[in-house]
Amino acid sequence: MKPIGPMMWEHRLIEKMLRLFDDEIRKIIEWNKVDTVFIDTAVDFIRTYADRTHHGKEEDILFRDLEKKKLSSEHARIMAELTEEHKYARRTVGKLIDAKERYLKGENTSQFVVSFLKELAWFYPQHIEKEDKHFFFPCMEYFTKEEQDRMLSEFWEFDRKMIHEKYTKVVDLLIGERGKGAEK
Ligand SMILES: [Fe+2]
Ligand SMILES: [Fe+2]
Repeated sequence: MKPIGPMMWEHRLIEKMLRLFDDEIRKIIEWNKVDTVFIDTAVDFIRTYADRTHHGKEEDILFRDLEKKKLSSEHARIMAELTEEHKYARRTVGKLIDAKERYLKGENTSQFVVSFLKELAWFYPQHIEKEDKHFFFPCMEYFTKEEQDRMLSEFWEFDRKMIHEKYTKVVDLLIGERGKGAEK
């Protein structure tokens, strides 16, 4: 299997999650109420799965190895765009969290929550299409079969570490919150 195989499976799950946003947006507009549990779940999915696990493999492994190759100007341009787009997604998720936090404090930020959900629902399919249709396949041509096999093994190893990284973070966060509570 080529290393882009698992990357494309991950795209399918990201798309599936993003499709749920439309219904959520409709509900917020209809009821002028935000389901903050849904937002927390969506944020966790994007941060842990789409960003850390998926964009992480793209940036830390695929793009890192591509940078060592002599890329065509078109591929170099697309890679720079993709990196910028990952940053844009991180910023948008940050804004969504901020709007949700303010909502929890009693501010009516539902229209902001809607607009950031819309931004993400609009952004990801385009980003994914750029990678699937214009980047991943031609990029594999820069690598030998051995290099591709090594990359795939590195992807599996990257994934293996994720569950531990995620739950170490969860526990550290809880300990931090308890610490804050004890200071009060
Ligand atoms: Fe990406
Ligand atoms: Fe991707």
